[in-house]
Amino acid sequence: MENLLSLFLTTFTLVSFFKTASAVDLIAQTHSISDGKSSLVSKGGSFKLGFFSPGKSKNRYLGIWYNNIREETVVWVANRDKPINDSSGILKMNTTGSNFVLLGQNNNSVFWSTNSSKQAQSPILQLLDSGNLVLRDEKDENAQNYLWQSFDYPCDTLLPGMKLGWDLRTGLNRRLTSWKSEDDPSPGDLTWEMELHSFPEPVMWMGSKEFLRSGPWNGIQFSGKPTKSLPLLKFSFISNEDEVYTIIHMVNNSLIGRMVLNRTSSRSLRQFLIWSETDKKWTLYAGFPRDQCDSYGICGANGNCVLSASPFCQCLERFRPKLEEKWNTNDWSDGCVRNKPLKYCQINDRFAKYEGLKLPDTTHTWINRSMNLKECRAKCLSNCTCMAYTNTDVREGGSGCAIWFGDLIDIKQIPGGGQYLYVRVSASELEAKDEKWMVGVIVAAAAALILVMLLVGYYIWRRRRTDFEGEGNEGQKEDMELPSFDLSVIASATDNFSLSNKLGEGGFGPVYKGRLADGQEIAVKRLSRTSGQGLRELKNEVILIAKLQHRNLVRLLGCCIQGAENLLIYEFMPNKSLDFFIFDQTRGKLLDWPKRFNIIGGVARGLLYLHQDSRLRIIHRDLKASNVLLDTGLNPKISDFGLARTFGGDETEGNTNRVVGTYGYMAPEYAIDGQFSIKSDVFSFGILMLEIISGKRSKGFYHMNQSLNLIGHAWRLWKEGRPLELIDENIGDSCIESEVLRSIQISLLCMQLRPEDRPTMSSVVQMLGSERPLPQPTEPGFCLGQNTGDSASTTQPPSANEVTITLLEGR
Ligand SMILES: *[C@@H]1O[C@H](CO)[C@@H](O)[C@H](O)[C@H]1NC(C)=O
Ligand SMILES: *[C@@H]1O[C@H](CO)[C@@H](O)[C@H](O)[C@H]1NC(C)=O
Ligand SMILES: *[C@@H]1O[C@H](CO)[C@@H](O)[C@H](O)[C@H]1NC(C)=O
Ligand SMILES: *[C@@H]1O[C@H](CO)[C@@H](O)[C@H](O)[C@H]1NC(C)=O
Ligand SMILES: *[C@@H]1O[C@H](CO)[C@@H](O)[C@H](O)[C@H]1NC(C)=O
Ligand SMILES: *[C@@H]1O[C@H](CO)[C@@H](O)[C@H](O)[C@H]1NC(C)=O
Ligand SMILES: *[C@@H]1O[C@H](CO)[C@@H](O)[C@H](O)[C@H]1NC(C)=O
Ligand SMILES: *[C@@H]1O[C@H](CO)[C@@H](O)[C@H](O)[C@H]1NC(C)=O
Repeated sequence: MENLLSLFLTTFTLVSFFKTASAVDLIAQTHSISDGKSSLVSKGGSFKLGFFSPGKSKNRYLGIWYNNIREETVVWVANRDKPINDSSGILKMNTTGSNFVLLGQNNNSVFWSTNSSKQAQSPILQLLDSGNLVLRDEKDENAQNYLWQSFDYPCDTLLPGMKLGWDLRTGLNRRLTSWKSEDDPSPGDLTWEMELHSFPEPVMWMGSKEFLRSGPWNGIQFSGKPTKSLPLLKFSFISNEDEVYTIIHMVNNSLIGRMVLNRTSSRSLRQFLIWSETDKKWTLYAGFPRDQCDSYGICGANGNCVLSASPFCQCLERFRPKLEEKWNTNDWSDGCVRNKPLKYCQINDRFAKYEGLKLPDTTHTWINRSMNLKECRAKCLSNCTCMAYTNTDVREGGSGCAIWFGDLIDIKQIPGGGQYLYVRVSASELEAKDEKWMVGVIVAAAAALILVMLLVGYYIWRRRRTDFEGEGNEGQKEDMELPSFDLSVIASATDNFSLSNKLGEGGFGPVYKGRLADGQEIAVKRLSRTSGQGLRELKNEVILIAKLQHRNLVRLLGCCIQGAENLLIYEFMPNKSLDFFIFDQTRGKLLDWPKRFNIIGGVARGLLYLHQDSRLRIIHRDLKASNVLLDTGLNPKISDFGLARTFGGDETEGNTNRVVGTYGYMAPEYAIDGQFSIKSDVFSFGILMLEIISGKRSKGFYHMNQSLNLIGHAWRLWKEGRPLELIDENIGDSCIESEVLRSIQISLLCMQLRPEDRPTMSSVVQMLGSERPLPQPTEPGFCLGQNTGDSASTTQPPSANEVTITLLEGR
């Protein structure tokens, strides 16, 4: 019985042996290949799949090797880290799924398996003549529809047609890993893979140490490739949304070649070998590393490895060793620094062109393949951390933009090859370099100086004249007096309007913090294109504020109107705005009563200046806590004149079809009828005072008696003889009762319903500064909250959001 069974088994294996002997290239459900007895041979006869033991090892592995090369050359191993220790291996179909599994016969443990998640009606495992072992559905008409393929799981060998890199859709990373040793195909510490940086490049790693780079692809080749071309090979590089990979093809398909990572080779760790039929052996066609200069980052930051120089580590031109002494002992690890350091981020920085380089490490890069070199330069200039830029593609005169942040690592001079790179250097550096340039610069500078002097002279002359002539003709001429900033300067100062520099959102767009090249801090108001503010208002604001100089007004340093960008550049106020303090429980404590009283006085004087003392009569129209900025000494500065309007002569009142301002601060006649005057500013000032005293917002104030808003609440406390209950708890002991009482009374006077009952700002300033008795206020305007009364004095403005609004009233 036993004999019979073994006879049967022998017959069976013999049958399958004969099958493979007649060179089958695929196995299906009922077939298998087993160790020592059977194998697969690809249809063209190039490759063979079977069991083998590498070197001196006794372990058995399932692998693929060249079929018609005598020297056993394994290109792929299935169970590379799970060897079978006897000759019991069998590869067959998993009975329950559509995958193929490698089993040890005596022990039914799985040593390896294809791992397709897709089901196939009639799965087959086929060895292609490219050396690719593929799992596919025989019923699938598309034979290229692989459910699994060995090319997706490379070992140490890259065969022609095999991709090295990423399938971004599945996250598959095809990379090479060396064998541990000649006898052990399990993964060693040498890997070669595509780095998915913004600007991708293949990198060789030794363990976790970056070891060799070939430089990023430049449209023709990898930028570190030597000029000596490799006519037998054709490299391609693909980078798109779905995939990033490199692939090699043999130019002459009758040649046999492979790329392999070889840990044990003393010459080249990565070799491209070609089979020599005459010598019957593999010959090295291209090796990597080629020379000392390929050693990653050998010359340190901003160093350039020049093989023909001695020592071969040189600083890039216009750079010098960071530590001279260390450098001179041939320890280059500290690299190089600029001769003339970059101060902050000078907008007049230059870019020096270097040619013939292997481009630096691309770990910290950014690219845009549709930008041109000019746009690229601007992009780099606008980011203070950007150190260099170049084209991503050098074909047809160059296209695309790659920029580098931080130090430039691993540059190599490629004689007669390589790529150009523009490196940021200080302007003085570049000018000092070339004396002819210098002469030009001096002449230009002299000319510029003369021009400036002429302009200044003209300016002074004109200034005098207009002072005498009065403000007759405002117009475009005025624009010229404004300091105009270049967009690139501002972009650079604000780190290209980065989110981290955003200070807040004003009525007409975001405000950014910035730092000019000389270190001066600025606030940049970026007027959004969608805002209601047109060029007209913008110019108004710019012209107005540029003329106004008062210690309680925020200073406009200049503007930038360029393309779609409308920017206003102000002095920077480190302490933000008043609302940031008074409405905040903790920060509110920083403002004691003397500080608050000082703020009230400062705003009053600033407003008085706008209304009366400046040569123009300006109504602010949007006075509110968030438009009062605080300097380092917590002194107030009024900002945001975008809505102000000028009036010549005695005109103090106007009617507009555009109501602008912020509800909660608007005077009744303005909110309801669009009537505005200096007295509507006085009303807003009254509310602002109330907010400073109470620490409560006029809008969004809720009291237990819900019908009262902040004004009504204040009025009621006043009437009931307990106005001190209005005081913000944060003021605490610092409170000077007489001053607070006086301030409450003044604020109520400012909020009288009829504009003519309100004091002017000059009276307000006087009242604040003296101790003379004050008139008694009557009921203010806008006293009631949600429940609107029927008298005019209790009309509630429509509720609206915090931000400044612009209503267009059809008239
Ligand atoms: C093979 O491995 C199995 C377990 O992994 C062990 O039991 C067996 O002794 C090994 N055989 C040889 C010949 O080393
Ligand atoms: C066969 O495949 C099924 C599902 O894919 C799996 O659960 C099972 O463990 C596999 N069997 C072997 C022997 O690998
Ligand atoms: C199969 O292998 C496992 C370890 O891989 C071992 O524990 C078990 O004893 C083996 N079974 C047989 C029947 O050899
Ligand atoms: C398939 O197996 C490989 C190892 O051979 C592994 O890296 C990969 O993640 C597996 N894929 C799936 C879908 O399980
Ligand atoms: C390709 O290589 C073979 C073998 O070296 C040679 O005979 C043949 O001429 C080559 N073909 C071309 C187009 O170079
Ligand atoms: C690696 O290089 C050594 C020495 O040059 C050579 O003997 C060996 O065959 C190479 N291994 C592979 C996988 O090419
Ligand atoms: C790339 O540059 C082009 C041209 O300047 C521009 O239209 C595009 O928005 C840029 N893309 C990115 C992602 O910055
Ligand atoms: C400037 O470069 C840094 C990278 O170092 C980046 O984080 C930042 O977003 C860049 N700024 C702009 C505006 O692109």
